[in-house]
Amino acid sequence: MLGLLSGRSALITGGGGGLGRATAIAFAREGARLAIGDMVEEAADETVAAAKAVGGEAIAIRCDVSKSADVQAMVEATIKAYGRIDCAFNNAGIGPAQVGMSNKKMADWPEETFDHLIRVDLKGVFLCMKYELSRMTSQGSGVIVNTSSIAGLVGVAGTTAYNAAKHGVIGLTQTAALEYAESRIRVNAVCPGPIKTPMNEASVKLRGSEAYAAKIPMGRRGDPQDVAEIVLFLCSDRASFITGAAIPVDGGWLAQ
Ligand SMILES: NC(=O)c1ccc[n+]([C@@H]2O[C@H](COP(=O)([O-])OP(=O)(O)OC[C@H]3O[C@@H](n4cnc5c(N)ncnc54)[C@H](O)[C@@H]3O)[C@@H](O)[C@H]2O)c1
Repeated sequence: MLGLLSGRSALITGGGGGLGRATAIAFAREGARLAIGDMVEEAADETVAAAKAVGGEAIAIRCDVSKSADVQAMVEATIKAYGRIDCAFNNAGIGPAQVGMSNKKMADWPEETFDHLIRVDLKGVFLCMKYELSRMTSQGSGVIVNTSSIAGLVGVAGTTAYNAAKHGVIGLTQTAALEYAESRIRVNAVCPGPIKTPMNEASVKLRGSEAYAAKIPMGRRGDPQDVAEIVLFLCSDRASFITGAAIPVDGGWLAQ
């Protein structure tokens, strides 16, 4: 039986980490041919091995999404391997904990730390879309999913630059959806709540897992597969009339 993404090529950034890896494995099971981009090459290699273990085809590409030359080379390497980019999951990102700003209020964020996080989480998504959209336009179709966050839809204390970047990702998503709808390119965002990945463990260590779970109506953090399933759906033809959407995957957090 054919998979949901049978024969389609898919580029996943941050593919060496929690959400990126789970999505890569879900895509591999559905027949996609994968390009796994990550700043940490060994992490991308591990995801490639995991994708191959479920019968998928995958290559690893080292790329820092905040660097234009790296992103351009990553997109070119994907096209060289597979001839086109049907799906892109622009997911690489860092949180406040990764820049030493856990629970810090706005006035305490050094300007250069703010700039650094914006370069990765916002400019990184712009750069990926810039090169992907150009290619998808010339090939006549494509699907993009960007990783925002519940912090892209509401304020979250202690997240200054992260919150700004994730709101910005939704702005980029909606604008690209409008600009490229006629080019048969769909662009959506996922907005995860707390999901059990290495990134989230850093915040949990600080705040305690019980405090987290108490904030989530479903009483638990999500699993990376919970997000992977939505990204898979959005990239598939089953979502053929969905574009410009920002979809929460948050156990009910935003309904409160
Ligand atoms: N885990 C959560 O609770 C949660 C919630 C909301 C949103 N998110 C978002 O999901 C995305 C993935 O996060 P995760 O939880 O899987 O984190 P993670 O730390 O497990 O994985 C992130 C991956 O991105 C890579 N990466 C970091 N900076 C990069 C760069 N400049 N260029 C290329 N790769 C880079 C890392 O090496 C890592 O493999 C991020 O954008 C994050 O903001 C996560």
